[in-house]
Amino acid sequence: MSIWKTKSLTQLLGEASESEKGLRRTLSSRALIALGIGAIIGAGLFSLTGIAAAEHAGPAVTLSFILAAVGCAFAGLCYAEFASMIPVAGSAYTYSYATMGEFMAWIIGWDLVLEYALGAATVGVSWSRYFLELLSKLGVHLPHSLICSPWETLKLSDGTVIEGGIINLPAIFIVVMLSLILIRGTKESASMNNFLVILKVSVVILFIVLGWNYIDQANYHPYIPANTGVKGQFGISGIAAGAATVFFAFIGFDAVSTAAQEAKNPQKGMPIGILGSLVICTILYVLFAHVMTGLVPYYEFVGDAKPAATAFAKTPYGFLQTGLIVAILAGYTSVILVMLMGQSRVFYSMSNDGLLPRFFGEVHAKFHTPWKTNLFFMVFVSLFAGFVPVSDLGHMVSIGTLLAFVLVCIGVMVMRKKMPDAPRSFKTPLVPFVPIAGVLVCVYLMYSLPQESWIRLVVWMIIGVVIYFMYGKKNSKVNNQ
Ligand code: ALA
Repeated sequence: MSIWKTKSLTQLLGEASESEKGLRRTLSSRALIALGIGAIIGAGLFSLTGIAAAEHAGPAVTLSFILAAVGCAFAGLCYAEFASMIPVAGSAYTYSYATMGEFMAWIIGWDLVLEYALGAATVGVSWSRYFLELLSKLGVHLPHSLICSPWETLKLSDGTVIEGGIINLPAIFIVVMLSLILIRGTKESASMNNFLVILKVSVVILFIVLGWNYIDQANYHPYIPANTGVKGQFGISGIAAGAATVFFAFIGFDAVSTAAQEAKNPQKGMPIGILGSLVICTILYVLFAHVMTGLVPYYEFVGDAKPAATAFAKTPYGFLQTGLIVAILAGYTSVILVMLMGQSRVFYSMSNDGLLPRFFGEVHAKFHTPWKTNLFFMVFVSLFAGFVPVSDLGHMVSIGTLLAFVLVCIGVMVMRKKMPDAPRSFKTPLVPFVPIAGVLVCVYLMYSLPQESWIRLVVWMIIGVVIYFMYGKKNSKVNNQ
């Protein structure tokens, strides 16, 4: 029994067609782009743009977005080659199984929990903040102990500061609701996602168009504020630090690849879904950030968790703020929905391979969804959303995602060596330059994250390795053939 055993491409493709009995191919290329945008535009844009501008880049936060997008594009191009080649559920986990062997596949599958499950929890907490804002506009106030996790400090819009509550119930509420919708069916969830995506993209466009006429050019001078003498505080290093902050806003394009097994025409749809959603979001992000920092001087965003609402208040359309909050909530909802879906598909694949108990791979007879996994993650994600501070969650998500990107970039180079002639309907251009550049950018961004997130990543991975040797290695189908 070798922990480095790989799965052959023929075996993987065979499994994809075999499991037509399980997951269904219902997603068109358009639905896949919507899935990508659904996972991408959320807390990163609506909450972190202001922080990145105020603390790191000033109006040049637009350049931070471009820098982060370039880094993601390298990884996105690698994902697109894999996803068109191996149209099986499971994303980076499945690709690693074919290239770097079972142990690395397990490592990456385990790591993806940080991206998808904790990603859903992080955005769930941000969702609860905007939800409270909406409730307070409607005159409804929930008990403080039920809207804040124990180790979190929450500043309400009326100025009240809550120094730790008992549980964040609104965050748990949204996670439970969306898990139940996911169980109902992929097509139903995709329809809901399409609706939410149309709503949030409309709001982003409306913000750009309405805000454009009220930009004060004086706010762009200086466009790149001089460095304060501290690395990462403005100047060129500030643009780079801003990129590390807004990287969170791009997380999610890879979620498209988790649904490869439900795509109608994955060879074409996967690259279109991954790269299309990335390009559309980059354009929207740069314009959005440009208008935001044109409406309000960047230094006024210090400590502002709702910068989009602050900037919008500077236009004569401030009365539309409630509508803006509702649409932002819709945006966050779609992120949580796609993240939860991606998570269940990764565990579904791992269970089918015997690395996790069969429980996670069981598909509902009527709804054709991995419903037991959905239920499991409903509880798991709720615990994190209800009890863990949002900044700790956010850093874990970023570091976990970056690690997955690094491994996918390496995987493409391994695959080109091992199977140079295997059919690929999409080829990453300029190999090895693109994957190597992807690795370098991602490692740089990981390096800029706080030390605690590295420690937590190592602890999480050690737990994963123990589980692999106690369960996965013994029950792996590939190893026991
Ligand atoms: N990119 C997603 C967001 O910004 C995770 O919410």
